[in-house]
Amino acid sequence: MSEAPKILAFAGSARRDSANKKLAAVAAKAAEAAGAEVTLIDLADYPAAVYNGDDEDANGLPETMRALKRLIGSHDGLVIATPEYNGALPPLLVNAFSWASRREGEEEALAVFKDKPVAIMAASPGGLGGVRVVSRMRDYVAQLGCIAIRGFVNLGGAYDAFDAQGALTREAASRQVTGLTQRLVRTAAALR
Ligand SMILES: Cc1cc2nc3c(=O)[nH]c(=O)nc-3n(C[C@H](O)[C@H](O)[C@H](O)COP(=O)(O)O)c2cc1C
Repeated sequence: MSEAPKILAFAGSARRDSANKKLAAVAAKAAEAAGAEVTLIDLADYPAAVYNGDDEDANGLPETMRALKRLIGSHDGLVIATPEYNGALPPLLVNAFSWASRREGEEEALAVFKDKPVAIMAASPGGLGGVRVVSRMRDYVAQLGCIAIRGFVNLGGAYDAFDAQGALTREAASRQVTGLTQRLVRTAAALR
């Protein structure tokens, strides 16, 4: 069995050219370099209807959301790169977490999130780099039972921040990603 902590990385955007997907991919490489085994997913591959309790009562969780929930549960830590929508969390993330937070069978409430370390990042074309969503995301993941890792990455001017290969072209932002992912991997290894 591998000793490396397992990190799941994804963005809160399904957009093809998403800056947050690019940031999540950069962070995934940084987490690998820090010794983690990384799974990078695209939430566009996990479509789901907007949460509705009647749907849940009739059909349970959509298969995509059950798969996402299993993935969260089978990893030791998360990297989430999120857009900021009107200063708040994007509906894609809230919907995915709403479904994944639902209890099935005899499991403990919010079992897959319990004590799970999370590295929070945000990318935006604007100058503030989505900084307002970071603190909201921190509160949100804490509410789910996760542990938000100290610090964050907020990448402003994000449409110009990556080269054609998807690498970050800004040294300060690269350092932020490296530092945050190293703390995530260390914490994930310690808490596993
Ligand atoms: C409904 C909506 C609200 C937005 N609100 C904000 C905002 O509050 N702050 C911000 O920096 N960008 C805002 N944006 C712009 C997003 O940062 C931009 O669309 C970004 O590219 C989304 O992330 P992505 O590239 O990963 O898809 C908003 C975009 C949308 C569609």
